[in-house]
Amino acid sequence: MTIAMLIGMSGGASAQSMSMPMPMHGGAAAAASGSAPTDASHGDARVPVDFPPALRREVLATMRMHLQGLAEIQQAMTQGRFDDAARLASMTLGMSSMHGDQAAQEARYMPPGMRELGARLHMQAGEFILAAQDATATGDHHKPQTILGHMMQTCVACHAAYRLQ
Ligand code: HEC
Repeated sequence: MTIAMLIGMSGGASAQSMSMPMPMHGGAAAAASGSAPTDASHGDARVPVDFPPALRREVLATMRMHLQGLAEIQQAMTQGRFDDAARLASMTLGMSSMHGDQAAQEARYMPPGMRELGARLHMQAGEFILAAQDATATGDHHKPQTILGHMMQTCVACHAAYRLQ
């Protein structure tokens, strides 16, 4: 599934809720939910995925680490610290960022499309690490920067398609 399709899906949900008649009172609330297609209470086109509570907590903690990793990688890149960027990616986004059998546990509960996006993220992290290591020798930041952008698109694609419950 492409990102364009995913955006199309949520855009469709938003257009649908926007076209519903709005009562005179509470118009602002209706408009707010219409402009937020990911609002859980209304027009949420994301597929709900059931995780056991402990695993859910663990996955969300990993997610927050992913985001912090991206922020620190971005900073390292702009300062030309490519070695640091590669190390951060390995710690926060690569396969080794998950402990023990977390990846296998998660895979058991994920629908195939979600599993594919998870695998893609870790593959892209591997590509980023190599490109950032190359950049320490060549100084060429374009390739790792491009892969970093692709990684973020994978975050966005999965968030647009799935939610935990
Ligand atoms: C394979 C799917 C998938 C990928 C890839 C993914 N996420 Fe998530 N992420 C989720 C799901 C599902 C949730 C829960 C959303 C919900 O239930 O509303 C989530 C939640 C989060 C949260 C909220 C955490 C919390 O405490 O509530 C953050 C932050 C986050 N992700 C960051 C990222 C970043 C950054 C990336 C990319 C580097 C990423 N995620 C990649 C599926 C994914």
